[in-house]
Order: sequence, then structure tokens, then C-alpha cells
Amino acid sequence: MTTREVQQLISGLETSDGAGVVLKRSLGTAQLDYLDPFLLLDEFGSEDGVDYIGGFPDHPHRGFETVTYMLDGIMRHEDNAGNGGSLLPGGVQWMTAGRGIVHSEMPEQKEGLMRGFQLWVNLPASKKMGEPRYQNFSPDEIPEVVSENGTKIRVIAGNYAGTSGAVEGIATAPTYFDVNLPAGTEFTHIIEKEQSAFLYVFEGDIAVGEASPKKVTTSTLAVLTEGENIRVVGGKKGGRFILVAGTPINEPVARHGPFVMNTREEISQAFKDYRAGQF
Ligand code: FE2
Repeated sequence: MTTREVQQLISGLETSDGAGVVLKRSLGTAQLDYLDPFLLLDEFGSEDGVDYIGGFPDHPHRGFETVTYMLDGIMRHEDNAGNGGSLLPGGVQWMTAGRGIVHSEMPEQKEGLMRGFQLWVNLPASKKMGEPRYQNFSPDEIPEVVSENGTKIRVIAGNYAGTSGAVEGIATAPTYFDVNLPAGTEFTHIIEKEQSAFLYVFEGDIAVGEASPKKVTTSTLAVLTEGENIRVVGGKKGGRFILVAGTPINEPVARHGPFVMNTREEISQAFKDYRAGQF
């Protein structure tokens, strides 16, 4: 069995989105446009309300999925189909936009730590115009496994040592773990060879790989090579990271702002449909 090594390291690039929310973008940048099927990864994290107070007011999506994982703070979401709720620290929303939704994601606090991730996952052509679907999970609905060496694994999607993640029925058969690894301890996990995989460190640092382990520090994304086994060792103060993997779709990607389709014609159609109020 081959152990995956680090293929590319990408430092989160500071940018802003929505109504001025400060964030670090690693996927969906000039360094890496996308890692099929993953289109974008944003880490947001600030104790200063100025950095997030504007939130993400009403905006549309079509053709892919947005996944929000809150670490700290509370985000309120509402959409044009009448769905709404609050995303609590440790909670997850996996939204399949399908043919289209218009939603908002707004902080429910004016100050204090707000931290989390947004990941965009592509949909195959056959599912881009499907019905929108939400999977919302409160923090206690995300299974947490504590291994013998003290590693904590929150299983958002996929399967860790027989524990299935909360999220189900996603086209790209994703894995999404939050792994909290103590100093010097080892974490291993097998991901099917044909899947793309990456890690993103958000606390401490880790070493990734077996033949030539590479150090990956906070706010850095490590794209992994082909292989099966993933091997990570916690740095001096330990490390916390998300591990994300999924089956590549291998179709043309046409993206513009909040729409991700296969052709430019389909993007134009998305704008027309949105303007015509058909979302
Ligand atoms: Fe959104």
C-alpha cells in the first residue's frame, strides 16, 4: 500500500468575500484553481467583529455544494425556500445547491471569536440541476472518536474505523474529518486510491507522509499525492487539521462567482434564470 506524500503546499491567501468578511483562501486561487472535485476552501477566523460583521447577505448558488463547518461563533442561515437556522460551534451545514437557491449567512454576534471553514464541492453534470438539499447538524450530532493515543477525530463525512460521518448521500463520496493530534503521535487513514485528498492545518503543525515527511504549519493546505494510506504525525505542540477527500468528477468546469457549471452557456443561463427570479 502506498502512503500519500505532500504534492503541493498552499498558504491561505488573505482576501475578503461577502460584505467584507476577512478570510484565508487556499483552494480556488491562482496557486490552485481547484482540486477535483473541490472548488474552494476558505478559513475564516477573527476575534474582531469588524472582520466578519458584514456577513454574507443574500446571494445565489447553482451547480455545486457549499459546506460550512463552524469552530467558534454562531452563524445564522436563511434561504428563499423558507429554510433557516443557526450554525453552532462544532456544527456543520452541507448544502447541495443543485438548480439554485438564494441564501444568506450572517453572524449572530457583533464581537468575539468567529472561526470556521467553507468548502465548495462540485456536482456531476447529472446532479447540477437537481433539487436543493440541506443537511444540518448540531455539534452533538457529529460523531467523535478518541483513539488510543489520544487523537480526537470528528467524523463529519466518510468513515473512520467503523464510525460513519453525519453527512450522507453525497455524489463525490467525500471524507471530511477534523483531527486533533497530540504532539508526536501518529494518525493514519486509508482513502481509496482514485480519490483526491488534502489536509488543512488550523492549529499547531504536523508532518505529513512516510518516505519524505513534510512539515505543514497553521493556515496551510497540503495537497496529497496519489496513494491510499495517509500518515500524519503531530508537531511539538500537536496539530489540528481537516482531512478532506473525494472522488474526482472529471468533467469540464465553467465557474463564475456563485455558479459552477460545465459550459459557459450554462453559466449565462444561470444568470438569466437568477435575474428572472427562477431560483
Ligand atoms: Fe453561500
